[in-house]
Amino acid sequence: MSQESMNLTLKIWRQANASVKGEMVEYKVSEISDHMSFLEMMDVLNEQLVAKNEEPVAFDHDCREGICGSCSMHINGESHGPDKAVTTCQLHMRSFNDGDTIHIEPWRAKAFPVIKDLMVDRSSFDRIQHAGGFISVNTSGNTQDANAIPIRKEDADMAMDAATCIGCGACVATCKNASAMLFVGAKVSQFALLPQGQVEAKERVQNMVAQMDKEGFGACTNTGACEVECPKGISISNIARMNREYLSATITK
Ligand code: SF4
Ligand code: FES
Repeated sequence: MSQESMNLTLKIWRQANASVKGEMVEYKVSEISDHMSFLEMMDVLNEQLVAKNEEPVAFDHDCREGICGSCSMHINGESHGPDKAVTTCQLHMRSFNDGDTIHIEPWRAKAFPVIKDLMVDRSSFDRIQHAGGFISVNTSGNTQDANAIPIRKEDADMAMDAATCIGCGACVATCKNASAMLFVGAKVSQFALLPQGQVEAKERVQNMVAQMDKEGFGACTNTGACEVECPKGISISNIARMNREYLSATITK
């Protein structure tokens, strides 16, 4: 049930940096409009804290349009909160009720150490993508017209779907094993499904999987929680494709 304005209790994880212990701290916010986004509600809290000369809550955000993948909050035990297929910045306060207590935590995974409060270091994802390297596309002036390369519509659609992964890390945060296989599966699949991705395909999947393991992410046990919480609806079939790509790369090298 939606209403015009709400009074809420927030229990937020506060942690000064990665080397000190954190704790849940309780705050009250009032007159929160149900039209506000979750991040706008956090802005109200921070304005309140700054006015009282207290340290504002650190959290990541950039586009606030569901594109960049930087907003990352575990809200009431769910990555990106209660709504399906949305990022935290797209979550609206109408999904909550007056008088609610909302628990807000950072992504929790060994490979995502807390920087401060709700901000975590996701550079492990960057290193996995760097390990994947580039694709060999001729850009020297005699490039083949993209439309001249026949690609099955089904493959083009699946590649496009995989490419919508925004690297937010919700899949890792929601997985009991803190596995990054949905993210890596999407990044492998977006190239594996297209002819342009074939030249370096074997090295790419092996290097990305090796880097994923080196970063300390857990293994996949097919629970499927990652797919449920992913704001972009990335399918776990991408994990199966990555496993097939990896197996075929290791036995045919
Ligand atoms: S697979 Fe989904 S949950 Fe995981 S990083 Fe990509 S968009 Fe985020
Ligand atoms: S702030 Fe960019 S996806 Fe949420």
